[in-house]
Amino acid sequence: MAQLWGGRFTKPTDQLVYDFNASIKFDKRLLKQDIEGSIAHVVMLEKQGILSCEEKDAIVKGLTGIRKDVEDRKLEITSEYEDVHSFVEANLIDRIGDAGKKMHTGRSRNDQVALDMKLYVRSEIICITEELQSLLNTLLHIMEENLTTYMPGFTHLQKAQPTTLAHHMGAYFEMFKRDVQRLHDIYQRMNYCPLGSGAFAGTTYSLDRSYTASLMGFEGPTLNSMDSVADRDYVIEFLSAISLIMMHLSRFSEEVIIWNSNEYRFVEIDDADSTGSSLMPQKKNPDIAELVRGKTGRVYGALMSMLTTMKGIPLAYNKDMQEDKEVTFDAIDTVKDCITLFDGMLSTMKFNRETMEASATKGFTNATDAADYLVNKGVPFRDAHGIIGQLVLYCLEKNTSIDALSLDELKEISPVFEADVYDAISLKTCVEKRLTVGAPGQKAMEDVIKCNRDFLDNLWIDKK
Ligand code: ARG
Repeated sequence: MAQLWGGRFTKPTDQLVYDFNASIKFDKRLLKQDIEGSIAHVVMLEKQGILSCEEKDAIVKGLTGIRKDVEDRKLEITSEYEDVHSFVEANLIDRIGDAGKKMHTGRSRNDQVALDMKLYVRSEIICITEELQSLLNTLLHIMEENLTTYMPGFTHLQKAQPTTLAHHMGAYFEMFKRDVQRLHDIYQRMNYCPLGSGAFAGTTYSLDRSYTASLMGFEGPTLNSMDSVADRDYVIEFLSAISLIMMHLSRFSEEVIIWNSNEYRFVEIDDADSTGSSLMPQKKNPDIAELVRGKTGRVYGALMSMLTTMKGIPLAYNKDMQEDKEVTFDAIDTVKDCITLFDGMLSTMKFNRETMEASATKGFTNATDAADYLVNKGVPFRDAHGIIGQLVLYCLEKNTSIDALSLDELKEISPVFEADVYDAISLKTCVEKRLTVGAPGQKAMEDVIKCNRDFLDNLWIDKK
């Protein structure tokens, strides 16, 4: 048990208590951030005349050495220490002696851990945005290639109107684009440095908090030292943003699973991204998509967990807040794996264009356009709706489609029909005439693709 405290105690800590209290098993992940924060802190202490230049240099060298030795596996972070902060400080003192004991001047583990977690989440926001960038590129590529790949669009999982694969993929592009923007919002809101808040009431040392903040790329220092150590809003916002990413991936997975089914065959997932059955030799299963869908619950769980952990905590720091780490780390690992795996699956997936198009010609996806045809000939929409409803019923009885009926058959139901109806309700016309902003018609889609290409070329992470 290597602890940073003990002076006022008359007994050693009970082993079970020690183990229950310790966070080293998981907060060792924060080593890099802890060292970055400590270096900024001592550089500032020296600038303020609180540490000598030699002391600062010795501490920086010691800290850099610890980081390197851990990276090179020459030094192991073991459960002998209560947390990563104790590990670093104890090792520093071992290495450089008394100067190491000055590192924690004007600091508490409360503002230290608040900073470490912020640095960690901040850098993960960048990593996740990079993964989304790749996924968005994959989607845009599929969109560009499939402007005229016709397919049915669904509502209630019933064929509704024809659309294109580009349009359908474009819907997901918008979702993941919002995810990128949401992460950017959170990044900007959270980017203020809590270090220098001490236990919660600041400190009597003349710290230059703005300087420390600038050393680590923050916009500035946080403005209330009590809030600084008690705030995990940004963790919750972040978990909420990645829950939305998972929700989007899960809906997409569900569609991939349906499209990959024996009944649909709209897509075929690559063999390298599929799995087999131990019993049924014919099976090729979409396990990756199913797992992505399944893992969504885990990330939502992290969000609920943190919302619940924080709801009853009085100001300022309380140990409950240590619970932020495991769930957040797990959620981050999960969302990153899911984006990467999904992106890989999507980029090698085969789209069966003929099957999609054939499906779009069945199921009366042109019924709306048939009604609109009558409207253009002067029939009020409600009446046109009724006429086409009758037509559909007639076709269902005859097991045929509207465009396969003869002009005489059509005229029997409404004399307004003319020979030009066939062109008006053809699959191509149905799609290509839909040219409102955001609609599937080729020209409309090309405009959107241009906007989206522009979005990807100017992504906020690339401008940092
Ligand atoms: N392991 C603690 C956490 O993750 C570090 C802060 C400890 N602070 C304290 N006053 N005990 O929150």
